[in-house]
Amino acid sequence: METTVLTTFAKDIIEGLSGKVKTLPSKYFYDEQGDKIFQAIMDMPEYYLTECEFEIFSEQKDSIHRAFSAGNEPFDLIELGAGDGLKTKILLRYLLDQQVDFVYYPVDISNHILDELVLDLKAEMPELKVSPINQEYFEALNTLRNMNDRKNIVLFLGSNIGNFHKFEATQFLSKLSASCRKNDMLFIGIDQKKDPRIIQQAYDDPHNITASFNLNLLMRINRELGADFNIDQFKHYANYNPENGEVNSYIFSKSNQVVKIRTLNCEISFAENEYIHTEISKKYNIQEIKHLADNSGFKVLKNFTDNKNYFVDSLWEII
Ligand SMILES: C[S@@+](CC[C@H](N)C(=O)[O-])C[C@H]1O[C@@H](n2cnc3c(N)ncnc32)[C@H](O)[C@@H]1O
Repeated sequence: METTVLTTFAKDIIEGLSGKVKTLPSKYFYDEQGDKIFQAIMDMPEYYLTECEFEIFSEQKDSIHRAFSAGNEPFDLIELGAGDGLKTKILLRYLLDQQVDFVYYPVDISNHILDELVLDLKAEMPELKVSPINQEYFEALNTLRNMNDRKNIVLFLGSNIGNFHKFEATQFLSKLSASCRKNDMLFIGIDQKKDPRIIQQAYDDPHNITASFNLNLLMRINRELGADFNIDQFKHYANYNPENGEVNSYIFSKSNQVVKIRTLNCEISFAENEYIHTEISKKYNIQEIKHLADNSGFKVLKNFTDNKNYFVDSLWEII
């Protein structure tokens, strides 16, 4: 198992760094170190996304539950990219207090964060039925297809969908709707377009925590593939473009340099100011969210927003 994951990682890294324009997949941010830095990001005042979604879950959990269980059908919860479950725990606690009978299936590619989540849940909610799945999103949905025959409510929180370009998001969500059953639902967290300075600060904070998150990708390549990236010779850059609603994050080379990746027996050259594209974080407005649902086999049932109207958790049904 470990070998397969490493081989896929190695293959993706070499492919990304060998192209004319260098890229690295953002899913590789989340090793043990990356998980910790992401938790520090969620604690920053500039990263408003977590606070807004936390508020939605805290203040509207009863309406969310009512919307999930319209028709009184029993349901299970599947969470794609669950992370540390910070916001989900509010809903899980509420459902248990309401004596709702359900299983919680957290899915995450990071086994470290998944282990941490399960340990926390066992301590905080011993009565919760939890069944973790350490796989990629669609692998997990395939695994789950044979595991339960109840209505599934798929949670995809924290604006994870923003890590896809708009056309990729439509493809991803179409695949998701196709893999769901007729009465399943999707509860998706999406960051809204807003004052560009507020968005910019969330991805380029004055404490340099986002910078260390981005640069950890190079450290991970050093750790796992025996590379010799000198982190001091690279810098983080993020830019929000209000025209397409995308924050693009990059790692820039500060100098002309050559990096060796020992286990892959290769060298990668960087020119001064050459960049690696590492992440996209796309923002939507309410109309675009409706289009996203309409174009991917879903229909928006209800939008839950925070008091500042910065973030939306949108409940979709299959059409
Ligand atoms: C931005 S964090 C958000 C975590 C959580 N949803 C939240 O709102 O706080 C993204 C999480 O998704 C996981 N992830 C990213 N790409 C994934 C993939 N392709 N398959 C499964 N999990 C993935 C990461 O490991 C990470 O824990």
